[in-house]
Amino acid sequence: MAQLHVIDHPLIQHKLSIMRNQNTGSKDFRQLLEEISMLMGYEVTRELPLEDYTIKTPLCTMNAKRISGKKLAIVPILRAGLGMVDGLLSLMPVAKVGHIGLYRDPDTHLPVEYYCKLPPDVANRTVLLVDPMLATGGSASDALTKLKERGVTDIRLMCLVGAPEGVKKIEEDHPDVPIYLAALDEKLNDHAYILPGLGDAGDRIFGTL
Ligand code: PRP
Ligand code: URA
Repeated sequence: MAQLHVIDHPLIQHKLSIMRNQNTGSKDFRQLLEEISMLMGYEVTRELPLEDYTIKTPLCTMNAKRISGKKLAIVPILRAGLGMVDGLLSLMPVAKVGHIGLYRDPDTHLPVEYYCKLPPDVANRTVLLVDPMLATGGSASDALTKLKERGVTDIRLMCLVGAPEGVKKIEEDHPDVPIYLAALDEKLNDHAYILPGLGDAGDRIFGTL
């Protein structure tokens, strides 16, 4: 069973409430999404393995720690996932960035793929798959399948707002993938939008409402 982590730090809750407010414009929405992504990145990377190595401080030699194991890749689901990349890169500046382009068909709500470009060595990396919204879970599930087809075995899914329906789908389709959310909302509406949610994340980030 996938592990669900809701990262409800007060700073994240405060910033997310401003994002949800319909009066918040694109500039602030983007800024807050970047800030929350950075704060969530701190928790999402908590379990990264460490190794010892020796350094010399100005005073003596010591056994220090550094991150070991697989290198990282950040993979946003286009478009809205792009808004989470810079916050994560500020924590992990040498991570590679892949892109998976999916849009939801407005009638069926099923994801349609239109782009995929991943680092050539993605199979050897720990991948953070990012998208602000986990609604039906169709887009994230397809993106996870795509990553697994490319040989990736270590994936974490990081979203801002999730619906129970989306969490259930990922738990069923990809029980090996931990899910990180800033908030687990109530339900989906008839158009498969999250309630209370924050509206259409891509449109709010890019001002295409
Ligand atoms: C949104 C969102 C997710 C998807 C979530 O993207 O960013 O990718 O919907 O819905 P799901 O869980 O039901 O699949 P959208 O299709 O609106 O495309 P956009 O990011 O280009 O606006
Ligand atoms: N995509 C969004 O951007 N928002 C939702 O609530 C659902 C899907």
